[in-house]
Amino acid sequence: MNWPVEDLWLEVEPDLPGFSVEVLAQVDSTNDELMRRAKKGNTDPILLLANEQTAGKGRRGRVWHSVPGQSLTFSLGLNLNPMIWSGLSLVVGLGILRGLDPFRKMSIGLKWPNDLWVGPATGARKLGGILMESNVIGSPNFTNKQDQSRYCVIGIGININAPKDVSLKMPAIGLEDLDPGLTPQTALLRVVPEVVKYVKQFCSKGFTGFVTEFNALDILNGEAVSMSNGVQGLARGVNALGELLIQTKEGLVTISSDEVSLLSFLHQRD
Ligand code: BTN
Repeated sequence: MNWPVEDLWLEVEPDLPGFSVEVLAQVDSTNDELMRRAKKGNTDPILLLANEQTAGKGRRGRVWHSVPGQSLTFSLGLNLNPMIWSGLSLVVGLGILRGLDPFRKMSIGLKWPNDLWVGPATGARKLGGILMESNVIGSPNFTNKQDQSRYCVIGIGININAPKDVSLKMPAIGLEDLDPGLTPQTALLRVVPEVVKYVKQFCSKGFTGFVTEFNALDILNGEAVSMSNGVQGLARGVNALGELLIQTKEGLVTISSDEVSLLSFLHQRD
């Protein structure tokens, strides 16, 4: 596939001095490749895209299946130093959505904490996901506790065509189903600069300013949810730390993405 490497670089470099764009025909995982490079000391800002991943990773140790040409698979490697880390992956989701669907024509929503879904909630289908990984390597003063900077790998997978894999936990959807006129190249060109802008804004201002935007796009908002730690109730959006709020019979409970996962949800608009 022919990727708009130069256009992308021209668009992003002013925001990220030293930025580079690289396309690989095949790699195990773009996330793993950037982490390997970082361990060797290469932490310059980069977008690494692979036409094929042989061992693509999803969240919670899952496999991210993708067929060459049917999926956008790339990772952004960035040295970041936000005041508070909480909410970063939610902000990445917002950036992707802003790039892909600025006028909300495709009805893409976000499923806390890291998924792109197309609603309505009852028949929601997964369009893509985000896998964030980070390490202190690359931070010049990482022994100094005051220095919070980390090398972050933001892995993004977006279906172009919905995978046919029947064993998938969630039914899938692809960009082709939503907007047949949107090429993978255009999608990439739209998404990456927005994600970079959102992440930069997050680093200077934190998550607080994104709460309203996230809650407006949150596909779970108002739905009855059941979490892996036994918490059940109505999802009520997120707080200023990006934690999921759940109204239970006992009161409002906050869930941090590191602790628990969403088991199921029932459509029960209030
Ligand atoms: C999820 O939904 O569980 C997250 C999926 C993330 C997949 C992307 S594809 C590019 C990057 N490299 C990987 O190995 N995973 C992420």
